[in-house]
Amino acid sequence: EQKLLVNKLKQDNLLSKEEFLTLLKQSSEEISEYLFSLAREVRQKIYGNSVYIRGLIEFTNFCKNDCFYCGIRKSNANAERYRLLEDEILSACEIGYELGFRTYVLQGGEDGYYKDDFICNLISRIKRDYSDCAITLSIGERSYDSYLSYYQAGADRYLLRHETASEEHYQKLHPSNLTLSNRKRCLWDLKSIGYQVGSGFMVGSPYQKPENLIEDLLFLHELQPHMVGIGPFIPHKDTPFASESAGTLELTLYLIGILRLMFPNALLPSTTALGTIHPLGREKGILAGANVVMPNLSPREVRSKYMLYDNKICTGDEAAECRFCMERRMNKIGYEIAVDRGDYKGGKCYV
Ligand code: SAM
Ligand code: FES
Repeated sequence: EQKLLVNKLKQDNLLSKEEFLTLLKQSSEEISEYLFSLAREVRQKIYGNSVYIRGLIEFTNFCKNDCFYCGIRKSNANAERYRLLEDEILSACEIGYELGFRTYVLQGGEDGYYKDDFICNLISRIKRDYSDCAITLSIGERSYDSYLSYYQAGADRYLLRHETASEEHYQKLHPSNLTLSNRKRCLWDLKSIGYQVGSGFMVGSPYQKPENLIEDLLFLHELQPHMVGIGPFIPHKDTPFASESAGTLELTLYLIGILRLMFPNALLPSTTALGTIHPLGREKGILAGANVVMPNLSPREVRSKYMLYDNKICTGDEAAECRFCMERRMNKIGYEIAVDRGDYKGGKCYV
């Protein structure tokens, strides 16, 4: 019985491969609702009905990589490239602070233009001006020493999705110079340095099998991250995956519910991609067990250029509009936005 498996997952925070597969393959609306209700209960116990906000600053769309799924891959000649200057990033932080953000997520393509010195200097300046804020980096694969220098400069968290934990699947999504083993090496390095670490994967990416998703869950269990970001794969018209179909709302929500039971204490975002495939996607993500949203804080002029996939939402809005839109959306479903760094709360998490 599916319900027993959900109960067991809540109890043990883990299932066997076979059990996970059964849970995944034989889902139904009834079992989803049951899963979501337990996920909400667990989240409520640890985080109450607070939803944490992160101000997402997309500071460069230059990227040296060529991931087959991504709209800002280097081979996409149609992408209009931009880089934000330090002052532009700092003024986004200032606007964000006024709006109640206490975490800045600095995200970008893998852009060699920003050397370690630049990143470290930027981090210290933000920390100096906004000492009650957390800084999350999301700038891809770097060396141990680089990660260490950012941490020492004051970065608190790092987001690096593993994308897929299957070697074979990884190679179908990336050119051969990118490897799953280096991606994992980065994640372990980040953990050992002391970052709050976020990993995650795309749901419904091309060639993904249910078995691959189980591998993702088992890898995450091994990693014990503080944050797990998942969202549906959505095709981008100028990539090799232009004509592939998007991941579904149902499967993404189902996996959010499963992740909440596996990681009761984790910070789980209800992502922009989820909001892109369904107008109420982000609300549904919260109701499935997520507890973080990441409104866009990038300057409006560059928003539409950070186009990872087609039809990305919020590309025409000002930071304040997104911020208040999100508050209305969360209030409507009975949740409150917290003006708080929103750090990981306790629980087991070991290196
Ligand atoms: N370059 C950094 C990195 O690779 O971690 C951060 C930026 S990268 C664009 C952020 C995330 O966007 C990736 O981890 C990937 O999961 C997601 N992404 C890229 N293309 C996508 C697509 N077509 N659909 C859904 N998510 C996508
Ligand atoms: Fe950006 Fe609603 S969150 S407009």
